Amino acid sequence: MPATAEREMGAGRAERPATVEVWDPFIRIFHWSLVVLFALAWVTEDLQWLHQPVGYAILGLVVLRVVWGFVGSRHARFADFVRSPSVTLAYARDLIAGRAPHFHSHNPLAAVMILSLLAMLIATAASGWMMTLDAYRSAEWLEDFHEGLASVTLALVGLHVLAVAIMTVVHGENLVLAMITGRKRM
Ligand code: HEM
Ligand code: HEM
Repeated sequence: MPATAEREMGAGRAERPATVEVWDPFIRIFHWSLVVLFALAWVTEDLQWLHQPVGYAILGLVVLRVVWGFVGSRHARFADFVRSPSVTLAYARDLIAGRAPHFHSHNPLAAVMILSLLAMLIATAASGWMMTLDAYRSAEWLEDFHEGLASVTLALVGLHVLAVAIMTVVHGENLVLAMITGRKRM
């Protein structure tokens, strides 16, 4: 092979390091659909004909994600990324000390965030559904509760996006791109 071609291939390898698939297509479609639907749920509170189907779609997606967490691809499984409280605390200490190990799937703190987001989405949608029942039709506390749950979820999403930005800098790997292509560095 001519030396120039070898140099070009070498340079190509240096620019594009080897990657491995981490997020399967279901996870990626789930995630970006959730982002769109969650935003839609927030802006359609006065358009109930749209708000309610969007809320049920979120609930359906989250239920599918939970099932996928048991039967899905390797890195989609909860068993692959959910750690014990002691391991999670040790990871948090390492992160603060600037020596956090790199994980291919979600790190232990991300796992806590993901479980919280999934639980809050289920609770928000369930409280929305309860509002449609005759028994609770005039229950103002339930409307306040639904709004409160939606607001806490929104705050968690803010933290989640901040954490993604921080971890992108800490490990020098674009995590948003990884959630689009499904691939991370080897
Ligand atoms: C534009 C805003 C968002 C960005 C940039 C973003 C980015 C990401 C990234 C990069 C990951 C993978 C994290 C990792 O590598 O460990 C992730 C995971 C996740 N995000 Fe987001 N996210 C956004 C909004 C949201 C929203 C609005 C929700 C829910 C309401 C959400 C829920 C989740 C969940 C549940 C996961 C876990 C994925 C899985 O394994 O199923 N995200 N997000
Ligand atoms: C995760 C999914 C959902 C999110 C993020 C969400 C978010 C919200 C928000 C922010 C409000 C405005 C609260 C206020 O200002 O009073 C609201 C209102 C409401 N939502 Fe949801 N919601 C979701 C799912 C649902 C579902 C599944 C239903 C019913 C099937 C539902 C029914 C309602 C109703 C009836 C209202 C009150 C509207 C009004 O009277 O002004 N929501 N929701």
